[in-house]
Amino acid sequence: MAAPAAAAAAAAFASWLLAVLWVGICSGVCVEVPSEKEAVQGSRMKLMCISCMKREEVSATTVVRWYYKAEGGQDVPIYEYNNEKRELDSRFRGRLQWNGSADMQDVSISVLNINLNDSGTYTCNVTREFNFESHRPMFTRTTLIHLTVVEKAGEDFTSVISEIMMYILLVFLTLWLLIEMVYCYRKVSKAEEAAQENATDYLAIPSENKENCAVPVEE
Ligand SMILES: *[C@@H]1O[C@H](CO)[C@@H](O)[C@H](O)[C@H]1NC(C)=O
Ligand SMILES: *[C@@H]1O[C@H](CO)[C@@H](O)[C@H](O)[C@H]1NC(C)=O
Ligand SMILES: *[C@@H]1O[C@H](CO)[C@@H](O)[C@H](O)[C@H]1NC(C)=O
Ligand SMILES: *[C@@H]1O[C@H](CO)[C@@H](O)[C@H](O)[C@H]1NC(C)=O
Repeated sequence: MAAPAAAAAAAAFASWLLAVLWVGICSGVCVEVPSEKEAVQGSRMKLMCISCMKREEVSATTVVRWYYKAEGGQDVPIYEYNNEKRELDSRFRGRLQWNGSADMQDVSISVLNINLNDSGTYTCNVTREFNFESHRPMFTRTTLIHLTVVEKAGEDFTSVISEIMMYILLVFLTLWLLIEMVYCYRKVSKAEEAAQENATDYLAIPSENKENCAVPVEE
């Protein structure tokens, strides 16, 4: 039962790691990494919103609006970036910080000292307006973040499991490689023995076997 879940968690973790590394290494490349969905009470939470630009969007003017919606409530504007960064009048006032990039592809904000009441849906609306002479078309991209604030950092069970799985896999692969090597070595030396008894096969069998054994790591 737990194995597929752990495998899925491991895969998710690996792809997340890859994405983060990718963003880190190639900072010029824009990757739309989704936001974390859980925050711990009292901590600083980065609400990640990345909206990669297409080439023609580079000359557009970007306006960002962040909204918050409590469960069963309505969208309340909480932050705006329209030429300048502005915290709007809401119960978040004084706790929001711009955490985006200058090129306006990363338009994240951070909530400081987050509390249990801050669970809910955050909406990031990115509007790009093109500055053409005759008309000014606008495009809006909307990103939703369903955030849950928890009292304290629980044991992240899935990550523990995926870590264990990773080690098991590593040990297993190493063992398998060793067994394969021993097996191959035996096969080759046996073939060589046989071949030495039979002069005609001396060249054919061992070289063929060696070739087969040269690539035991196929997975
Ligand atoms: C933005 O968030 C990162 C963590 O994701 C943090 O290290 C950095 O200091 C933040 N930048 C600003 C300007 O708040
Ligand atoms: C959460 O909201 C309730 C009312 O909506 C308020 O009484 C309470 O103090 C708030 N808790 C925090 C930690 O802000
Ligand atoms: C975000 O923008 C879209 C398109 O303009 C709009 O339909 C939507 O209501 C906006 N979201 C919020 C929370 O205002
Ligand atoms: C040994 O060589 C002979 C020809 O010299 C061949 O007919 C025979 O099949 C070979 N035996 C083996 C075990 O390869």
